[in-house]
Amino acid sequence: VGLRVRELAIPGARAMEAGLQRQEYRGYDSAGLAVDGDKAGEVEIFRSVGKVKALAEVINNAKINTEKVFDCHAGIAHTRWATHGQPKTVNCHPQRSDPNSEFTVVHNGIITNYREIRELLTSKGFKFESETDTEVIAKFFKYIYDSNKQHNLDFSQLAKLVIIELEGAYGLLIKSIHYQDEVVATRKGSPLLVGVKTEKKLKTDFVDVEFPDTLEELSSVPADANSNINGTANGLLIPKDNLRHSVSRAFMSDEGIPMAAEFFLASDPAAVVEHTKKVLFLEDDDIAHIYDGQLHIHRSSNEVGASTIRSIQTLEMELAEIMKGSFDHFMQKEIFEQPESVINTMRGRVDFETNTITLGGLRSYLTTIRRCRRLIMIACGTSYHSCLATRAIFEELTEIPVSVELASDFLDRRSPVFRDDTVVFVSQSGETADTILALQYCLDRGALTVGIVNSVGSSISRQTHCGVHINAGPEIGVASTKAYTSQYIALVMMALSLSDDSLSKSARRLEIIEGLKNISEQISKVLELNDSIKTMCDETLSDQKSLLLLGRGYQHATALEGALKIKEISYMHSEGVLAGELKHGVLALVDENLPIIVMATRDSLFPKVMSAVQQVVARSGNPIIICNPGDKFDPKYKTLEVPATVDCLQGLLNVIPLQLMSYWLAVRKGIDVDFPRNLAKSVTVE
Ligand code: G6P
Repeated sequence: VGLRVRELAIPGARAMEAGLQRQEYRGYDSAGLAVDGDKAGEVEIFRSVGKVKALAEVINNAKINTEKVFDCHAGIAHTRWATHGQPKTVNCHPQRSDPNSEFTVVHNGIITNYREIRELLTSKGFKFESETDTEVIAKFFKYIYDSNKQHNLDFSQLAKLVIIELEGAYGLLIKSIHYQDEVVATRKGSPLLVGVKTEKKLKTDFVDVEFPDTLEELSSVPADANSNINGTANGLLIPKDNLRHSVSRAFMSDEGIPMAAEFFLASDPAAVVEHTKKVLFLEDDDIAHIYDGQLHIHRSSNEVGASTIRSIQTLEMELAEIMKGSFDHFMQKEIFEQPESVINTMRGRVDFETNTITLGGLRSYLTTIRRCRRLIMIACGTSYHSCLATRAIFEELTEIPVSVELASDFLDRRSPVFRDDTVVFVSQSGETADTILALQYCLDRGALTVGIVNSVGSSISRQTHCGVHINAGPEIGVASTKAYTSQYIALVMMALSLSDDSLSKSARRLEIIEGLKNISEQISKVLELNDSIKTMCDETLSDQKSLLLLGRGYQHATALEGALKIKEISYMHSEGVLAGELKHGVLALVDENLPIIVMATRDSLFPKVMSAVQQVVARSGNPIIICNPGDKFDPKYKTLEVPATVDCLQGLLNVIPLQLMSYWLAVRKGIDVDFPRNLAKSVTVE
């Protein structure tokens, strides 16, 4: 978060703390911030391992005049999820260039050539204090600054010289005592947005005034003969042509005068929404330079005629949506929001009067998709499970062969992709690095790409040709719940939409649309199981080491998703097993102790699932059966009854007891549900 804090009604420290807290769910093993110090040329850095609260303590205990220090123009702050180096104070961000902290940097992502840069800087006398890749950026800034003093570079020119040498992924904010009250922000493969707050209503909704290149004097920058990062023949300093860039000025008034504004930089809209709803999303290679209440966007790459127009979008999100309300945890709130979030996914899209589906974001691509030779769904984690859950209905309705891929594995295999393929990318955050890389791979091969994404304005929603926002609202809990059910419905709607020209499928389509009509109410009904699930967790499950979940057909994905939820937040080992595969190995684990949850709702595979139950019972196993009302089982076995719906939608209901189960298992163990160890909401590194 980079803030212009002086004019804020609340003290800057609190503004940054609040902003950080809203981003904490993305990464939370440590936190830190840097602001201008008491005197010119000084900077104050506060860092702490742990959550943002711990950082607030550090600030409160600091022996400085915090009121004064936070009455500053610019600050940068960060919550971290470690990629390089343990979560310890020295590895927290901001990282600094030297003991005087001439340059301070916060960074999301990963610099893949940091070893080479570190070696070079070490050879120039720099002493490293952390194990992070980020520290090389701060030090590299100082090195380039010191070696180009005679050129009086402005902050964005300096940034350009530095980032041209960085490889990997980054969302970066940089501050410097040499550029007091200024912040530079840049991104590549990691999200970054600018919230804009102006007194007046914004006249123009975009940034669009081009300025000529005025960097003549820089053309004489000498190449550094000693450096050879990544075999760059010219060394660290870039050739003349690379220095061209276009400059845009933000928010011109009618008289052509730039309007002063406060700017809030963040990787996630949730961090800025309480200050402003006007945001612009930076693109890869943008360098945003903020000073004097103005925003200037430059390009770091050399593409000819690239536009620096960035339209301002208005966030739909309300602050209340990212608050816990009366719930103890975000995850709990999100589980209980599902009756509403599934309606939001269908709102304006499913017309229950006429039984039609309209997906505006796909409209002009439907014909191309119908003609594709195959459809590939690519995702990670829970999003991958939503693809597995809907694959069968997709194939049935569209008659297009569908394959479902984990993004990392798909890339590892360098799987062939063709121009007549349609590839659907499913992601809650729209920022998962593996999924974005797979998207790039498919774009390079000319396939049609579709995004099924929750975060509006995210990389995947912007880089795909077309798509559907699932409109589940912000999801903060690391373990995905409402996004899963909404992705599921979005994919079903897509299959319904693609098949609306097929007469032979119309009865089946009607049955599914009817099912969708009742789904919200049925989810509410399942949520009534909350208390009995809590008791079940307390009494029989919480002391167990391991748990099996069995399902087949549509319910295989439910078993996998349930097992993932339980692992993620309760740290209990759990395994989702295809019921048909039980006898081929997993059966060996079954005894009277191992809890086994069986998805035995009524569909065409019900008899086969029952035979898996028999196999379990014959080994003295005690299944817990998720079933439809009225189905009779041996009273020895515990059952959880969920309403019946169409086979292909049943997973939307069956997954909810499992979400609740994972929640209560975690609570019972005293785990901080929204912050499970070692995980992050949005994994922006490969
Ligand atoms: C992380 C999260 C998971 C999520 C996965 C994919 O691993 O912890 O909850 O399912 O990323 O995220 P996406 O945002 O692409 O859906």
